[in-house]
Amino acid sequence: MIQEISSEQTYPLRSEILRWGQVPPEKCGNPEDILDGSFHLGYFENNKLVGIASFHIEPMPDNPNKAYRLRGMAVAKSHQNKGIGKKLVQYAIELLKNKNVEYLWCNARTSAKYFYEKMNFETFSEEFEIPNIGPHYRMRIKL
Ligand SMILES: CC(C)(COP(=O)(O)OP(=O)(O)OC[C@H]1O[C@@H](n2cnc3c(N)ncnc32)[C@H](O)[C@@H]1OP(=O)(O)O)[C@@H](O)C(=O)NCCC(=O)NCCS
Repeated sequence: MIQEISSEQTYPLRSEILRWGQVPPEKCGNPEDILDGSFHLGYFENNKLVGIASFHIEPMPDNPNKAYRLRGMAVAKSHQNKGIGKKLVQYAIELLKNKNVEYLWCNARTSAKYFYEKMNFETFSEEFEIPNIGPHYRMRIKL
């Protein structure tokens, strides 16, 4: 089941999955988490939060049109490759289509590029490095 969650609820999975436990949960917040228009989705299985994704308004580099950026996309290790990530992104896309948003984009980890391609995101940058995290591509989908 997917429902909207608070930014704080995302911290444990962000810490465990996206920062490999090296950054404590209480340090896993982003300033964009609480901007006007920001929202966070959680996927629950048996009342346990096992998937997260966060969304905030941010134009793409080089394009001023209204866009949302996806951040903090993570699924608990035991639940990966079961379609949960895909359901979270598809759910968000339906919400954003009703908000007159033109694009959803993200800095996708190179290791997750194939996941986004499966959902019809296209790459729009060369590969680049984010310090302490690794190689990424900018990817987007037109809504
Ligand atoms: C990347 C991640 C969010 C994907 O979520 P998920 O629930 O495991 O993915 P899904 O099961 O919904 O996969 C959707 C599709 O992508 C494919 N896919 C997912 N991850 C993949 C990978 N690393 N390599 C190749 N294909 C992948 C699946 O096979 C599936 O294809 P299908 O629709 O043909 O069956 C999740 O694996 C994760 O949290 N990984 C670690 C953190 C991370 O990299 N987050 C993204 C940061 S940008």
